[in-house]
Amino acid sequence: MTYRVLVAGASGYIGRHVVEALLHRNYRVVAQLRAGAQWSLTHPKLECVYGELTESEQFLLDIEPCHFVISCLASRSGGVRDARLVEYDANSRLLAVALQWGVQRFLLLSAICVQKPRLVFQKEKLRFEAKLRESNLPWTIIRPTAFFKSLSGQIMRLQQGKPFFVFGSGTLTACKPIAEEDLATFIAEQLTSSSAIDAILPIGGPGPAITPLGQAQLLSQVLQQPVKTRSLPPRLFLIAAAVLSLFGLLFSRARDQAEFLRIAHFYATESMLVWSDEAGAYSEALTPESGSKTLSECYQEIIKGGVVSELGEHKLF
Ligand SMILES: NC(=O)c1ccc[n+]([C@@H]2O[C@H](COP(=O)([O-])OP(=O)(O)OC[C@H]3O[C@@H](n4cnc5c(N)ncnc54)[C@H](OP(=O)(O)O)[C@@H]3O)[C@@H](O)[C@H]2O)c1
Repeated sequence: MTYRVLVAGASGYIGRHVVEALLHRNYRVVAQLRAGAQWSLTHPKLECVYGELTESEQFLLDIEPCHFVISCLASRSGGVRDARLVEYDANSRLLAVALQWGVQRFLLLSAICVQKPRLVFQKEKLRFEAKLRESNLPWTIIRPTAFFKSLSGQIMRLQQGKPFFVFGSGTLTACKPIAEEDLATFIAEQLTSSSAIDAILPIGGPGPAITPLGQAQLLSQVLQQPVKTRSLPPRLFLIAAAVLSLFGLLFSRARDQAEFLRIAHFYATESMLVWSDEAGAYSEALTPESGSKTLSECYQEIIKGGVVSELGEHKLF
């Protein structure tokens, strides 16, 4: 029997790789897409279904039921309203469909940063995680560390001779980044793993944790040129967020802008590693790893292939 898997958020950075990883493992895949999504993949075992999960789940209830549901949905902006609409509302509709189908597993792609929930999108993610855990379905929650794309946004600046921005000393934070293909493989493998039932799985990529300063040094090696760093104080974000919050009382756009600054401050000051309550610190040793692709290989590919524009410049700079 070939299992049928619904991938919601299939057009996303990780979602599209999850679709490919599942097809590679011979699953029948249903890709949930929004109208107008950029999608070119075709395959005999792939079906695409179009609809707005933030509005209704009926378009999914009209198709043949699936055995598994994977959610790679995520708010693209992290804005206050969007976070609730996508992280909680859309996922809740997806859960309603999964319950109706009686799926064998609901697998949620979440994020390691929810360990210290200070941002709206993190709280909405956690709210849905709790709802999923309380449902009667077998579930798996995957909380990755950082993706390679999140560590690649300054390459174009360096190629233009501009400095690499770090916060403080450049060693305030660390992460174990994971390649999108490696994370997709990990996700596909958990689908039928019995040890992943009702489990929260933090996951990072191979090798030691890397700081922003370490990223600058790695880029210097890969680009074979000296890389200058420029330090910014992270509290700048909090000061700007506090000012914008005043306007946010009246304007939702200012509320979102203030939230984006708080997001920037969070990533400037918090590591993407498993938090150890015992040590009261982030722990590289406690952060599991998977996959084989390294950040150095990713940087080399980007620089050789000129795919920086696809990843986008780092929004902060
Ligand atoms: N970036 C990191 O380093 C990092 C690290 C750890 C965990 N994560 C987590 O990993 C998850 C996936 O990240 P990603 O980079 O793959 O996300 P992404 O590329 O932004 O993809 C988000 C997906 O959700 C869909 N979506 C967004 N808004 C929607 C809406 N209003 N209605 C319906 N669908 C909507 C998108 O559809 P469209 O294509 O139509 O917009 C897309 O398919 C997120 O939960 C993120 O927090 C990220």
